[in-house]
Amino acid sequence: MAGVEGRVVVVTGAGGGLGREYALLLAREGARVVVNDLGGSRDGTGSDESAAGKVVAEIQETGGEAVANHDSVATPEGGAAIVQTALDAFGRVDGIVSNAGILRDKSFVKMTDADWDAVLQVHLYGSYNVIHNAWPHMREQQHGRIVVATSTSGLYGNFGQANYGAAKLGLVGLINTLALEGAKYGIKANAVAPIAATRMTADIMTEEQLKALPPDFVAPLIAHLCADEVEETGAAFIAGMGRYQQVQLFRAAGAEFDHTPSVAELADRWAQVVDFSAPQPGGVL
Ligand code: NAI
Repeated sequence: MAGVEGRVVVVTGAGGGLGREYALLLAREGARVVVNDLGGSRDGTGSDESAAGKVVAEIQETGGEAVANHDSVATPEGGAAIVQTALDAFGRVDGIVSNAGILRDKSFVKMTDADWDAVLQVHLYGSYNVIHNAWPHMREQQHGRIVVATSTSGLYGNFGQANYGAAKLGLVGLINTLALEGAKYGIKANAVAPIAATRMTADIMTEEQLKALPPDFVAPLIAHLCADEVEETGAAFIAGMGRYQQVQLFRAAGAEFDHTPSVAELADRWAQVVDFSAPQPGGVL
């Protein structure tokens, strides 16, 4: 097989926005797609079963294969039901594009426990709920592709998004470990931070910026990361406005001591601790 031809890929939150573009392109490239969407509002309230069905109809009209699922990613039962939909309809699950998301933006001082919980529940637990149910099948068949939706808000921070940023960087931590644990089973796990005009960004960017950010720009990267040929794993990417770039954590040169330094000794060498003139890539030690 090549690309995503014949592969079964679940796209969560695919009833609109970026997920819809991912599902449409994956289907055009020959994947069989589970279009999941709860169909709620931007803050995660409500539900509308027609959202996923409309995208399935769009795919089928152009000769593609897709099935709808309306479960919430936010519960373990929902995660299991979403993966079961793939197994029932197509007999296997090759890829998970964990894209479903909500926003509850508030400055940290105003953030309620409910805002914190709801955002972590959908993004971080939601990804876990779906991927964890697909994982044994991927190991068994020695093939799997995981793509999670991260964000520059997690990688770099963003005012009013403590809950969202924490969840989004948590997802990078998740794929870093899934890449290691999946390596010998042919499972690749990567993260994409999209930048696109959707209802999520409709009121935080100017008209001009939104025009330059059609969500379909992000979809080819998602399809590539789901393809049989992809080599990357444990990698994060930023994609938007026609630009695609990997993003990494680096270490400074650092200061080394052969004894436990005093606070003053450490302060004396601080310039080395924060010296990024020769950045070193990641790794545990
Ligand atoms: P969107 O609001 O248009 O799409 C999100 C979809 O997820 C909606 O269709 C919604 O119904 C669905 N959803 C929400 N909760 C769900 C649940 N519990 N179970 C199943 N489906 C659920 O937003 P957009 O922009 O398309 O976002 C997609 C992903 O990309 C999100 O994870 C978002 O955080 C991420 N992202 C988007 C950026 C952008 O510039 N648009 C920037 C950075 C990240």
